Amino acid sequence: MHTDVLVIGTGISGLTYAIKLAEISPETSISLICKTKLDDGNTRYAQGGIAVVSNFKKDTFEKHIEDTYNAGDRCGDLEVINFVVREGNERLKELINWGTQFDTNSNDALDLGKEGGHSEKRIVHRKDQSGAEIQRALINKIRDFKNIKYFENHILVDLITDHHTKTNYNRCYGAYIISTDDEEIIKISSKVTVLSTGGAGQLYTFTTNPIVATGDGLGAAYRAKVKLEKLPYVQFHPTALVPKVKGETFLITEAMRGVGAKLLNHEGEAFMRHYHPSADLAPRDIVARSIMQEIMSNNHKHVWLDATHLEESHFISHFPTILDSCKLVGINPLKDLIPVVPAAHYSCGGIQVDKNSKTKLDGLYAIGECSHTGLHGANRLASNSLLESIVFSHRAAIHTSLEITKNKLDEKFFSMIPAWEGQHFSSKEQHHLTKKLRKELQETMSQLVGIFKTKEGLIEAQKKILSLYHETVDLYNNNKMSSELCELRNMVSVAYVLVNQAIEQKENKGVFYNHEYVK
Ligand code: SIN
Repeated sequence: MHTDVLVIGTGISGLTYAIKLAEISPETSISLICKTKLDDGNTRYAQGGIAVVSNFKKDTFEKHIEDTYNAGDRCGDLEVINFVVREGNERLKELINWGTQFDTNSNDALDLGKEGGHSEKRIVHRKDQSGAEIQRALINKIRDFKNIKYFENHILVDLITDHHTKTNYNRCYGAYIISTDDEEIIKISSKVTVLSTGGAGQLYTFTTNPIVATGDGLGAAYRAKVKLEKLPYVQFHPTALVPKVKGETFLITEAMRGVGAKLLNHEGEAFMRHYHPSADLAPRDIVARSIMQEIMSNNHKHVWLDATHLEESHFISHFPTILDSCKLVGINPLKDLIPVVPAAHYSCGGIQVDKNSKTKLDGLYAIGECSHTGLHGANRLASNSLLESIVFSHRAAIHTSLEITKNKLDEKFFSMIPAWEGQHFSSKEQHHLTKKLRKELQETMSQLVGIFKTKEGLIEAQKKILSLYHETVDLYNNNKMSSELCELRNMVSVAYVLVNQAIEQKENKGVFYNHEYVK
């Protein structure tokens, strides 16, 4: 199969990019692929919303820039922060024009929420279902374009590079993909390939990320020799509900603390005021670490979130999903305290890209959580991730439309790209071992590479992951490919790079905290 542009991943980044490119370049063929269903990624789970300056009577771009830079422990790229914050408003209007419905107040203005690290109310949202609403509207919108096709149940195996074509152009030529329905590995050649594959929260046992968040784009980029940056900046969300809901870890949005919910320890004390002047609305890294300190020093399993002050009508109108999910596990948040712990949430690092989300490999872009743009520094400001996605997707689409015409490779070249060798049917035995190795990797990462790290722990993790890596390579070399094996291969590679970078990091910044470097 050949397409002008291949987009891998269909969250907010991949869909926004495709829509924008289809609008400005109707003659360009765009193919979207996703691992399971079109809405299977992280976007759907985003509760809080998008941080955008829209109330210019109270808020300013400068305040949002400062909040982003400070939350990132002053490690972000100020030029990037500057343009992302300033371009956000236009991109938000586009999302609305494409059919996204955000909550409004009685004056018909956008209803703005507040989250940790923000000096003003600026979170544009749809109840506690902001990501799901955006995803719905974008999926609807792509159907308007004849030049966009999408393929569900397709999993990235590897990017096609000079290594496969025996050329020397430093380019990406598409990807090898498992079509799970047909049980075969197909070649999709393309002039431009876009990774919008999300994060790697599945590296940890306890994560707010869905099962599909296995760092596939990161792993494939690494194998294509594209640089991965700042991987140790893994952000833990402070408040995940302790009992799983329908087998999945459930996020309790920071927006609840934005309307006054308080974190309490087992003595009933609102402890956050001891840790930061902004107390419950301190930046996320500080809140997550403070919770862990409370848990560890008192040998408890969780802390509490108290939202009992909220009116039932307010709860129903603003947090219906949280209300339903808590009730499913026997907690009534209108009367009961909610047991919460931090959970792996967001990868602030990722694939190195420039200001148009282009990687150093020509023809390859990375957008959204899988990329590292410099916006987040060492700790992402709450609700800045969807903002980054819409701004960089737009920039990448404009850049693509200009660059694609310069690509002179012809049909003959693409048809000569070799097919993938072998098939991917998996035996039961391999399935069992793949599962076992995945679990061991998650346990190693959770125990040794979590919120608090030590020098010895990281070295131990490095050894363990190296041995898991060799076992995975063995499996890979001696068995037919499968989607589980493909995911494991990515997870192990990403974990290995992450731990090596963590060992190299000699200073605590933002979410990165190694006891060795406490001043
Ligand atoms: C939340 O709603 O608390 C999560 C939002 C985010 O991760 O930015």
